[in-house]
Amino acid sequence: MKLPIYGYGQPVLKLKAKEVEENNDLIQKLLKDMWETMYNASGVGLAAPQIGLSLRIFLVDTVQAMEEGEEDQGIKKAFINAQIVEEKGEEWAYEEGCLSIPGIRGDVDRLSKIRIQYLDENFEAHDEVYDGINARVIQHEYDHIEGVLFTEKVKPLKRRLIQRKLDKIKMGKVSADYRMKFKGKTKR
Ligand code: NI
Repeated sequence: MKLPIYGYGQPVLKLKAKEVEENNDLIQKLLKDMWETMYNASGVGLAAPQIGLSLRIFLVDTVQAMEEGEEDQGIKKAFINAQIVEEKGEEWAYEEGCLSIPGIRGDVDRLSKIRIQYLDENFEAHDEVYDGINARVIQHEYDHIEGVLFTEKVKPLKRRLIQRKLDKIKMGKVSADYRMKFKGKTKR
């Protein structure tokens, strides 16, 4: 089932999300719905707060996004109760976007390498290292479960330039080719 994506301005996007306590049918259904919602919106990542649930769950699929000949291998994974335990390497800028903030993109500086501990969709524990685009998408989604949006990490000048657009999105004055839910109203 496709779920509406919560837009910029929704309070749930600003909360630090809670840990998932146990694997059950509801969580499995939620994961299935999140994958469907993400692909329907052509996203490479989706976090539970973006569908209105303050839970530490996010999905990443960089397989399609990886360009031919790219050294990195894409990943397709669910991250449950993730903790980034280390970020290192060089800081690099990459233009990010977000399904909750349609029509806005901006460069964000992040460190290139991360180590992350998480449970997969079967609730098996992993401790892994990522870099490149994989790390980038994970960092963006991880921010979502910490209640942080990429627009808070763009340079101050860029931030001033996009502020009016953000205010419009908050009011639901934006179009996306997937269903969204803004504070107080639903719009297609
Ligand atoms: Ni996002």
